[in-house]
Amino acid sequence: MRTVPNDLFVYLGLFAVLFSGLIAFYTIVPQNYGPRPQKPHIIIIMADDVGRNDVGFYGSGQIPTPSIDALAYNGIILDRFYTQCSCTPSRAALLTGQYPIRLGMQGLPIRAGENKSLPLDVVTMPQYLKRLGYKTHLVGKWHLGYAHIEDTPLQRGFDSHFGYWNGFVGYFNYTAVYELANDTMVKGFDLFDGVVPAWQERGKYATDLFTHKAMKIIDEHNSEKPLFLVLAHLAGHTGEDGVELGVPDVAQAETRFSFIKNPKRRLYADIVSRLDDSVGQIVEKLDEKNLLDNSIILFLSDNGAQTIGVYENSGSNWPLRGLKLTEFEGGIRAPAAIYSPLFHQKGYVSKELIHITDFLPTFYAAAGGNLEYLGKIDGVNQWEVLSQQKPGKRDEILVNFNEIDNVSAIIMGQYKLVQGRLAFPEYGDYHGDSGRNPEDPPYNFTAVLSKNINQQNRNKIESLRNQTDLSWCRGEKNQPLIDCTEGCLFNLESDPCETTNIIQEEKIIAGKLLGRLFEFSQILVPQQVAIFDPESNPEFYNGTWCTWLDPQFCPKTI
Ligand SMILES: *[C@@H]1O[C@H](CO)[C@@H](O)[C@H](O)[C@H]1NC(C)=O
Ligand SMILES: *[C@@H]1O[C@H](CO)[C@@H](O)[C@H](O)[C@H]1NC(C)=O
Ligand SMILES: *[C@@H]1O[C@H](CO)[C@@H](O)[C@H](O)[C@H]1NC(C)=O
Ligand SMILES: *[C@@H]1O[C@H](CO)[C@@H](O)[C@H](O)[C@H]1NC(C)=O
Ligand SMILES: *[C@@H]1O[C@H](CO)[C@@H](O)[C@H](O)[C@H]1NC(C)=O
Ligand SMILES: *[C@@H]1O[C@H](CO)[C@@H](O)[C@H](O)[C@H]1NC(C)=O
Ligand SMILES: *[C@@H]1O[C@H](CO)[C@@H](O)[C@H](O)[C@H]1NC(C)=O
Repeated sequence: MRTVPNDLFVYLGLFAVLFSGLIAFYTIVPQNYGPRPQKPHIIIIMADDVGRNDVGFYGSGQIPTPSIDALAYNGIILDRFYTQCSCTPSRAALLTGQYPIRLGMQGLPIRAGENKSLPLDVVTMPQYLKRLGYKTHLVGKWHLGYAHIEDTPLQRGFDSHFGYWNGFVGYFNYTAVYELANDTMVKGFDLFDGVVPAWQERGKYATDLFTHKAMKIIDEHNSEKPLFLVLAHLAGHTGEDGVELGVPDVAQAETRFSFIKNPKRRLYADIVSRLDDSVGQIVEKLDEKNLLDNSIILFLSDNGAQTIGVYENSGSNWPLRGLKLTEFEGGIRAPAAIYSPLFHQKGYVSKELIHITDFLPTFYAAAGGNLEYLGKIDGVNQWEVLSQQKPGKRDEILVNFNEIDNVSAIIMGQYKLVQGRLAFPEYGDYHGDSGRNPEDPPYNFTAVLSKNINQQNRNKIESLRNQTDLSWCRGEKNQPLIDCTEGCLFNLESDPCETTNIIQEEKIIAGKLLGRLFEFSQILVPQQVAIFDPESNPEFYNGTWCTWLDPQFCPKTI
């Protein structure tokens, strides 16, 4: 007969000693931080195609965004924050800390059925954070490729993904489209829980559905682990057909925003105001779960608004020049604010240059990671700049170098050089609602003052709003468009609205910026080019867009 080995009792004994030791340790150490982890929870809430003048904290009162504004006034308003000029490049830059020219992603956003993706050898923000013990979740938009299973979020560092793979979907039916050259629309369902189509969620309003999923993640999060949550909303992009401005109750939106002249913008205002409700609910949920005190919340838009043209949402970058898909300020100087009770200084406007690539090293540093492990990135660690209001560490931003459109732009200090002819010249004009019309209601301070997290008084809020107000710089609409084929140089400090080309006056500065652009052209990876792959057609896969080059995950149904 076998006896229980004595060793087992020895182990059990040891375990008991260790265990009581641990208990003793935890009772002796003061519980200042309660059960919270040392590493901060990181929450990124990304809006889609929402312009600087569509939120309240840059001076407009037209669309009520009290929850986003409260984060801004009680955190840091990023006044000179820059993204890429469209969805895919911005998201690639955010997740990799690299300029899209290193990834071949400096061109147009990925369209449905195109075999393009974030290069597989690049490590992503969630992958880095996982190494530091984070649980990583993505809710909402991906837009970095899905031809192969390896391209999808669960293989790129996220423990979970609930959302869509394409650039946009219907606000209620989650249909994504590809428009063929002969105007035929190829349509398919694009809403997945991991890789499983989430048919059962059809009919629910996207903003609410994604908010609900994000809140569930926060609710179920084990608070001993640090949380990394990206909530990438569909709002305020147009929906399925590229025209839809999906709101749950059109009549209600019309009434509520009847003071807005443009009927499309009334719907858009409703979309953005619901996006704001989402932000409020996420903040409340974090608070309820006692995670808020140890959280960093970043709110940003992926690029400027698309006031007119393809996927026009009637958003506004006013008073800035240009729209999404342009290298002008309206396309790239996106709204952003960052909030954290961990900041030593809060409630101010940061005029430091901050680029979307900076958040990878910034958050990695905030999480205590060793930056040497990040390899070759373009992002700059801004953690001390943000948390301690130290002087900025970035003097230059490569806006883009698009070798196919032959447009490039760079910012250095107060100067910006744009070279080339815009692919969409009419997008380079001044568009967008000022939100400061006589019929617009005054800013609702009460709504912000009543937010739980708000610690600022009315006067402070007014002063912050004044500091971000750029009304003074607006240029004339329909002035002859500046042709930058020979190069345009702008002084962003005295002329943030890019009204005056000073390249003839400042040839030496222009030469310096051109030289830097040339250097970037030398490291550029040619942009990925792909055409619609007919094999991707949802009609083969029970009506869904799916990983068509990995058929085992995507069996053909016809
Ligand atoms: C898809 O893209 C990958 C990576 O660029 C390439 O290796 C592959 O040949 C492409 N497949 C098809 C079917 O286009
Ligand atoms: C989805 O909704 C959009 C916007 O209402 C509509 O144009 C489209 O026809 C719908 N698509 C499907 C497949 O039902
Ligand atoms: C449009 O083009 C697609 C693919 O070439 C073809 O299958 C379809 O029949 C065409 N539709 C029309 C209306 O011509
Ligand atoms: C301002 O916001 C408060 C709180 O949300 C709300 O009760 C009030 O009706 C708003 N005032 C106006 C004029 O809309
Ligand atoms: C903000 O600007 C307005 C208009 O210039 C001015 O009347 C007001 O006093 C300013 N408020 C603060 C707090 O700076
Ligand atoms: C790109 O533009 C520059 C000047 O703007 C011009 O010299 C060059 O020839 C253009 N290249 C192509 C490929 O069009
Ligand atoms: C096929 O699509 C329908 C919705 O059109 C859905 O109800 C059904 O569950 C899908 N079948 C499979 C096997 O996924």
